[in-house]
Amino acid sequence: MLFTRSFVSLLSFVALVVAEPLLSPHVLHEKRSHTPAGWSRSRKHDADAVLPLRIGLTQSNMDKLEELLLDVSEPSSPNFGKHWNAGKVAQTFKPSSETVSTVYNWLAASGIDASRIKVSKAKTWIEVNATVTEAEQLLQTEYHVYTHESGKEHVACEAYHVPKHVSKHVDIIMPSIHFDAVIKRSEPSSHTLSNIGQPGVGLSPKSTGKISDLLTQLEDCDQQITPICLRALYDFVYYPVATSKNSYGIVEYTPQAYLQSDLDLFFKNFSTNQVGKSPVEVSIDGGYAQTDYTGFGYNGESNLDLQYGMALTDPQPITLYQTGDMEEGASFNNFLDAIDGSFCTFEGGDDPYYDAVYPDPYGGYDGPQDCGITKPAYVISTSYAYNEADLSPAYAARQCAEYAKLGLMGTTVLYSSGDNGVAGNSDLCLGPDGDQSYDAVGFNPSFPGTCPYITSVGATQVVSGHSVYQPESACMEVIYSGGGFSNYFAMPSYQKSAVDHYLSTHPPKYSSAQYNTTGKSRGFPDLSANGAFYVVAVDGSFESVFGTSASSPVVGTILTSINDARLAIGKGPIGFINPTIYSSEFTGAFNDITNGTNPGCGTVGFSAEPGWDPVTGLGTPNFAKLLARWLLV
Ligand SMILES: *[C@@H]1O[C@H](CO)[C@@H](O)[C@H](O)[C@H]1NC(C)=O
Ligand SMILES: *[C@@H]1O[C@H](CO)[C@@H](O)[C@H](O)[C@H]1NC(C)=O
Ligand SMILES: *[C@@H]1O[C@H](CO)[C@@H](O)[C@H](O)[C@H]1NC(C)=O
Ligand SMILES: *[C@@H]1O[C@H](CO)[C@@H](O)[C@H](O)[C@H]1NC(C)=O
Repeated sequence: MLFTRSFVSLLSFVALVVAEPLLSPHVLHEKRSHTPAGWSRSRKHDADAVLPLRIGLTQSNMDKLEELLLDVSEPSSPNFGKHWNAGKVAQTFKPSSETVSTVYNWLAASGIDASRIKVSKAKTWIEVNATVTEAEQLLQTEYHVYTHESGKEHVACEAYHVPKHVSKHVDIIMPSIHFDAVIKRSEPSSHTLSNIGQPGVGLSPKSTGKISDLLTQLEDCDQQITPICLRALYDFVYYPVATSKNSYGIVEYTPQAYLQSDLDLFFKNFSTNQVGKSPVEVSIDGGYAQTDYTGFGYNGESNLDLQYGMALTDPQPITLYQTGDMEEGASFNNFLDAIDGSFCTFEGGDDPYYDAVYPDPYGGYDGPQDCGITKPAYVISTSYAYNEADLSPAYAARQCAEYAKLGLMGTTVLYSSGDNGVAGNSDLCLGPDGDQSYDAVGFNPSFPGTCPYITSVGATQVVSGHSVYQPESACMEVIYSGGGFSNYFAMPSYQKSAVDHYLSTHPPKYSSAQYNTTGKSRGFPDLSANGAFYVVAVDGSFESVFGTSASSPVVGTILTSINDARLAIGKGPIGFINPTIYSSEFTGAFNDITNGTNPGCGTVGFSAEPGWDPVTGLGTPNFAKLLARWLLV
């Protein structure tokens, strides 16, 4: 014991001489401005209770992340398309040895015995089991127990501090201010809307009910969208030929699940040679296409994504990333862990305060957390989203950087932009200190839509009485296209001239209480596609379905076909597309949408205008024009 302690002090002494001061004043690291809805502070936490403190270390070269990503993603760059392998990504961004030793020495010098400090395999996290008293001293904070309306308890603090010289080496510390605790699902019947840990609460496609007569003519696309409508709208005629080299992944979160009988009903009507075909399921953290619970809330999203994803890329096999078990579900980080082992937090564990924990403590999936089990597909579409304000800036930034790494590796990451216009999921808006309510006036952007390293997809529609050969409008039927400006992320360079053009030619009439008016924050969506009147087979009959939930997988089919054409002639996948689609080389490759708005928070929202706009982005894809351009880069 004595030996260990003096060994630790020696380490500290060395650090003192060669690196930075060990003793420096504590500075504020993260702070929460309000207690999330549904929770209240009930008591001070017991002084000798033990907290599993997990310290997320700052990764190296984060200041160069955007530049490195642009270097392989800008069509004018000599390194365009020279994507990295996973090993190079992990090596480039892993925390430096200075970061690991600074945090380690701080803990040791604060009296934590070396035997209690564990560094994760990838050296990205440090864990220590600390008593509440120890943690309060380390972080100059107070831990309280909070109680949720459901009775669930959660330990958190309101702000925490770390020494000044340590601060730049730490991203986040858990448990601390974070609140997205996974709440055990009480009853299976309330799965779809009650779960807090699962992404996309309140964002799911909307159905206006059953369709009695299927309309199958192109003239009817203003009333029913079917695959032929999308092919006509987007000049999208293509037969994949490089399917064994190509990949397209669609992410679903259990209990959302597809039904084979519905896929077959859809295929019988709209893609006859696919009857009997299924997606290739990759099960993540116990995910499986459950059939115990059915209904639009359980099958709508998956059936929609897979029916259109499969029909429009036939014969390309589609990968279904079915994520999370029936008890806890899962978050985006659980999915990211599975496709990038270096992202996993502690020895394959996870952030218990945001993400589902496996083995499931509530009795579901009892296997280990899936970590680096599968290679990411070239295009990945996800139709689930949080409100940016649901997550802390540091947590969102850490996840956003992970999307940039996928881009470096050649994956295109698509997320639907939300269905509530400038409001957030469930129509919530933002109050002055970041609290969400129905009567607040602040626009409430969607995450990861606002992450500059993903491609955010908004929704359009064929206006009633118009044909597929007339311009579409922003979707204002049943749902409104999510769009606006981030409160967390700065504007990436690739969209500066497009967004500047919008703000200078059509300055929005809203105040800084409503959105970030500086002209310096990330604008979204990046592009859009039809999101209204989709014909989807659900539980044995066809329903009329609306949502950016439809737009994202459809854009995915177009980009997958472009990858196919490139792979067939020996080129690589298109990877992170934003720097390309905003570039002058791609001007004119999108159908500009100039009609409609995205209402929310008591306003009409922003308006679709010539050029990029925060409703429909650059517009809808024209496959033939995009393909011609992408074959040249
Ligand atoms: C913390 O405690 C848990 C449960 O006892 C144990 O599994 C884990 O290894 C401990 N971690 C450290 C860093 O000591
Ligand atoms: C098309 O769908 C209808 C249900 O609307 C179904 O009755 C019919 O059998 C399907 N068509 C074919 C060719 O299977
Ligand atoms: C607006 O966004 C910019 C860029 O992210 C940021 O620097 C600025 O602080 C934000 N302003 C407000 C009021 O949030
Ligand atoms: C613009 O959108 C509105 C609302 O959807 C629609 O009534 C109108 O016909 C559209 N105008 C054009 C020119 O598409």
